[in-house]
Amino acid sequence: MSARKTEDAPTTATSGALPRHVAIIMDGNGRWAKKRFMPRVMGHKAGVETVRTMVRHCAEKKIEVLTLFAFSSENWRRPEKEVRLLLELFVSALKREVKRLNENNVVLKIVGDRSAFPEALQQEIATAEATTSANTGLKLVIAANYGGRWDIVQATRALADEVTTGRLESSQIDEAALDRHLSLYGMPEPDLFIRTGGEERVSNFLLWQLAYCEMYFTETLWPDFDGDAFDDALNSFSKRQRRFGRTGDQVEQEKNA
Ligand code: IPE
Ligand code: IPE
Ligand code: MG
Repeated sequence: MSARKTEDAPTTATSGALPRHVAIIMDGNGRWAKKRFMPRVMGHKAGVETVRTMVRHCAEKKIEVLTLFAFSSENWRRPEKEVRLLLELFVSALKREVKRLNENNVVLKIVGDRSAFPEALQQEIATAEATTSANTGLKLVIAANYGGRWDIVQATRALADEVTTGRLESSQIDEAALDRHLSLYGMPEPDLFIRTGGEERVSNFLLWQLAYCEMYFTETLWPDFDGDAFDDALNSFSKRQRRFGRTGDQVEQEKNA
């Protein structure tokens, strides 16, 4: 059997370790508000506070990347008013938070199809990214109008363009070639996926990148997710044995070598 696959696979069994990259589906804002007889948007507003808390925790723990799913390519299907309020909230949060993120050495990156956003929001995104691009601390990735399928399709299109223009042979297309065009290129793969709000599905988040990610689901609604809840997720992660296709014994042997 060829050894290629094992050489290509990640080799770190991070049992006991912290994840380098945490990816979160921030779900449950609407239900949080409904329980309090408040409009859904109040849940989204409370959710922004949780984002601030999580950024602080990740920075303190020296986690390298935090990716947050803020708006999916399917969320346009929501009532027009909720979509509008979500976009407004996004703009105001960007404006308000960029200074603080910059002071905290955070690099902000927005992934997703931003061409569908109003011009003012696109401008705000570009400014926020430029302001923080030279920082060296936590990378905060916000997935907005993002879909895992969209990401793979746009990467495929970029590869097709390279082949059409003669910069690439179709025989050179491999996983690394596709990966180069994906939104999270250059970042470590997500190690820990967290979904709050009780649903146990991926909802078109990072499809390609979740291949060997550890999954963690919690009933806690996003506005209630706090440092202790995050520590529970990290604790669960630290106890797992990541095998990447090998046997448990092999992983143990390598750890002790
Ligand atoms: C997640 O909370 C935030 C977004 C999708 C923008 P929801 O708004 O989906 O909250 P629930 O699932 O209805 O409670
Ligand atoms: C996923 O949540 C998207 C975000 C959190 C941004 P949804 O609430 O939209 O997911 P579904 O529709 O319940 O799968
Ligand atoms: Mg939801």
